[in-house]
Amino acid sequence: MFENKHVLVAGGTSGINLGIAMGFAKAGAKLSVFSRKQEKVDAAVAALSEAGPKAHGGIADVRQPEQVKDAIAAAVQAQGPIDVLVSGAAGNFLAPAVAMSPNAFGTVVGIDLNGTFHVLRYAFDHLTKPGACIINVSAPQAWIPMMAQAHVCAAKAGVDMLTKTLAMEWGPAGVRVNSLVPGPIDGTEGMARLLVDKSKKDALAKTVPLGRLGQVEDCADVALFLASDAARYVSGVVLPVDGGWSLAGATLAMGQMMGG
Ligand code: COA
Repeated sequence: MFENKHVLVAGGTSGINLGIAMGFAKAGAKLSVFSRKQEKVDAAVAALSEAGPKAHGGIADVRQPEQVKDAIAAAVQAQGPIDVLVSGAAGNFLAPAVAMSPNAFGTVVGIDLNGTFHVLRYAFDHLTKPGACIINVSAPQAWIPMMAQAHVCAAKAGVDMLTKTLAMEWGPAGVRVNSLVPGPIDGTEGMARLLVDKSKKDALAKTVPLGRLGQVEDCADVALFLASDAARYVSGVVLPVDGGWSLAGATLAMGQMMGG
C-alpha cells in the first residue's frame, strides 16, 4: 500500500516509533529513521530492511536544530521527498516538580516539544505537496494531568497544539497533521519507566475499557490508517489509541503504576 513512499520516523529506532516504522516497512514503504545512538540506529535499519525496502539511518538529537536539519536532508538524499513524517522522539522520567531542576524540566520539553518543532520545521520543505501526512506521537499527559509528570504534561500539550496550529497553516499546501496518542502499550520503555510496581500490570490492564494493554502493532495500524487515502479528509485531530483508557481509568491507573 505504501510502495515507493518515503516514510521518515524521527526517533524510530525503538519502542512504539520503531513499531510504527515496521508497520510502514511491511506495507512496502522506504523508511528513514534517526535517533541519538549509532547501535540503535544500526539495529533498527537492519530490522526495517529485512521487513521491507532498504532503510536509511542517521544520527541526530532532536534538541539540536542543525543536527535535525542535516539528518532530514540526508534522508531525503537517500530516499526522496517525504510522503509521511512521524515525529516520535520523547523523553520521560517520574519526578515531582520540586525534585526537578530547570534543566530536568527543560530536557523533556526540549526533546518532546522543541524536538517536534525542529523535525516538522525542517521537514516541511522536503514534504510531498500536496499529499504529505505528518503524525506526531503524543501522550495522554497532554490533556490528563498526572503527578510526577509536569514536564511531559506541559510538553505534550504543546505538541498537540502544534498539531492543530500546523494543520491550519499547512493545510492549504495539502499537508495533513495529526496526533496519535498511545495509551498503555505493553513492552515499551515508557511503560517500563512509568509502571514502577510491575506486579500491578494486570490491574492496569483492567482499567482499560477494552480489557487489555495495547501492543505496538495497535499504534502502527492506526498510523497506517492516518497516512492512507482513507484518512484524506482527516487533519488536526488528536487520536487516542488506548482501548478507551483515557476516558476514565487513566488517573486511577497512574496511581497504581506509581505503587499507590
Ligand atoms: N528525576 C529528576 N531529575 C532527573 C531525573 C529524575 N528521575 N532524570 C534525569 N533528571 C535530570 C538530570 O539530573 C539533569 O538535570 P541536572 O543537569 O540539573 O542535574 C536533566 O534531567 C537531564 O538529564 P540527563 O541525563 O543529562 O539528560 P539526557 O539527555 O542524557 O537524557 C532523559 C534525557 C533524562 C529524558 C533520559 O531519561 C533519556 O534519555 N530518555 C530517553 C528515552 C525515554 O525517556 N523514553 C521514554 C519515552 S516515554
